[in-house]
Amino acid sequence: MEYIDLRSDTVTQPTPAMREAMARAVVGDDVYGDDPTINQLQELAAFKLGKEAGLFVPSGTMGNLAAILAHCQRGDEVIMGQHSHTFLHEGGGISTLGGVHSCQLREQADGSLALGEIEAAIRNPEDDHEPLTRLIEIENTQNACGGVWQTPEYTRQLADFAHARGLIVHMDGARVFNAAVAQGIDVRALTGPVDSVTFCLSKGLAAPVGSVLCGSTEFIKKARKIRKHLGGGMRQAGILAAAGIVALETMVERLAEDHARARTLAEGLGEIPGIRLDPGSPATNMIFFTLADSIKLTPAQIEKKLAERGVLTSASGPRRFRLVTHVWIDNAGADKTVAAFREILQ
Ligand SMILES: Cc1ncc(COP(=O)(O)O)c(C=O)c1O
Repeated sequence: MEYIDLRSDTVTQPTPAMREAMARAVVGDDVYGDDPTINQLQELAAFKLGKEAGLFVPSGTMGNLAAILAHCQRGDEVIMGQHSHTFLHEGGGISTLGGVHSCQLREQADGSLALGEIEAAIRNPEDDHEPLTRLIEIENTQNACGGVWQTPEYTRQLADFAHARGLIVHMDGARVFNAAVAQGIDVRALTGPVDSVTFCLSKGLAAPVGSVLCGSTEFIKKARKIRKHLGGGMRQAGILAAAGIVALETMVERLAEDHARARTLAEGLGEIPGIRLDPGSPATNMIFFTLADSIKLTPAQIEKKLAERGVLTSASGPRRFRLVTHVWIDNAGADKTVAAFREILQ
């Protein structure tokens, strides 16, 4: 059976143009800096994000980890959201491997961190009892808060606030292109103010593997060394970077289609009794909703019944669902999903 897979935008397969580019990629040993395709991807990514340099890494998790380890010393503290991907889903790598402590703040409805709360969380560097606040991590779009985006104004304000206090800002921009496309702005307006940013090629942009960490030349040099500590470079990985170049050149603007399709899908789902869409959902390509008490089926039972009808979803809480649109979800898939939910919940 061909499934309509709404579990995540990470399920996307490389497009035919990517497979073609991968087959033709000129490659070299990237540990020597000799892979022209990786070098091209890193330069292109840095240019698009308005940064000096980029580093190709296998995953968003490694990009965030390498960034935080490059910015921080053991015993430093990072302020981040309590629903941030780094806090919830990255294996605690910053503390396991870097001895870096985290301080989690509750996000506001738009996924941002309130400056007043950050101010209150900054440690007293003169007090031997306290770790040293070094960095603030923000996430845009913020996944667990609804795939919500933050504005350039907020990002600039936060970065100015951090820099005035001697703090560094890293952005987990796994889906920062979704945030830019949703606001109709150049992504640089979001990435320009922060010191470093990781974005993913292998989510809505549909490349098979990889993320790029971007920042200053000096920072990327440090991060490259950290990548070695984390297991090293990937030699002839230009074959993967080739797909990433196609992703950056051809898959960004079309994210608007995923956002529009998410809205259509949400409208259909919202008409089904028992489905309560989160307020404002979807902001980008993620639809979040809760089941009303009148629905006696558990999310796991619903998931099973949906799968029998060719629709894959994943529950994101005891009564909550997250559905994610991407390039492989078309209008027919969205219609079929609404029909399947309607049939099961009736
Ligand atoms: C917001 C966010 N950051 C980081 C990541 C990590 O990316 P990866 O799965 O490539 O490690 C994800 C993955 O879904 C994510 O949603």
